[in-house]
Amino acid sequence: MKALGIDVGGTGIKAAPVDLSNGEFDAERLRIPTPSLCTPEVLAKTAKEFVGHFNWSESIGVGFPGVIKQGKVLTAANLDDSWIGVAIDDLLREATGCEIHSLNDADAAGLAEFHLGEGQAHQGMVLLLTIGTGIGSALFYQGKLVPNTELGHLPMNGTIAEKYTSRKVKKDLDLTWSEWVPRLQEYLAIIERIITPDLIIIGGGASKKFEKFSADINLQTPVVPARHQHHAGIIGAAFAASNSIL
Ligand code: BGC
Repeated sequence: MKALGIDVGGTGIKAAPVDLSNGEFDAERLRIPTPSLCTPEVLAKTAKEFVGHFNWSESIGVGFPGVIKQGKVLTAANLDDSWIGVAIDDLLREATGCEIHSLNDADAAGLAEFHLGEGQAHQGMVLLLTIGTGIGSALFYQGKLVPNTELGHLPMNGTIAEKYTSRKVKKDLDLTWSEWVPRLQEYLAIIERIITPDLIIIGGGASKKFEKFSADINLQTPVVPARHQHHAGIIGAAFAASNSIL
């Protein structure tokens, strides 16, 4: 069984058909740069492009960078305010003619890691943090996802965590790794204090650079990179399109 996974990110919108039995891509991933104004109309057009490119007519899972409840967008911090209140599943179903299941992008990445990656069958408290343009979180307890946790929006140093610690902040402020890592350490220490996870998985863009900062992270909790790295979002979105896994 296959589903198309679409991962809507701050810098790129990525998609690939995924074999749901093993999480592998069934065709080469396609990445389209995220336009500076990513409105609902723009995403609908992009989804149509993906469907054409992959000649797709089956289910599609969409990882979206905001809170999604019952197929409706409630927040879109790093996209565009015109998203608020949009029935994203209906919008993309009309644009593509395919069944759509949308969920938060970090929750999607978490599903991939929980079912096929680093969190596999863990029965404790597992937290995946995607660190990229923003910071997203996916929390699992005894195998169940607690959706839309939004731990990147924790108040921190007069701002919110993702505006202090994300990879975008590192880039925008031109910080070296040794200048940026103390910010990440400070954030993870807060997370550890309030959640006491058994495992923290780092996903998103930062997972590809894990070795640049892992030695300087000092926590009680084990911290590992996402096994599927930046592909976890696509794989998990495809899983979400299949009722068998949720
Ligand atoms: C959004 C989250 C999202 C994260 C990563 C945050 O700004 O509020 O929903 O998971 O960025 O994309």
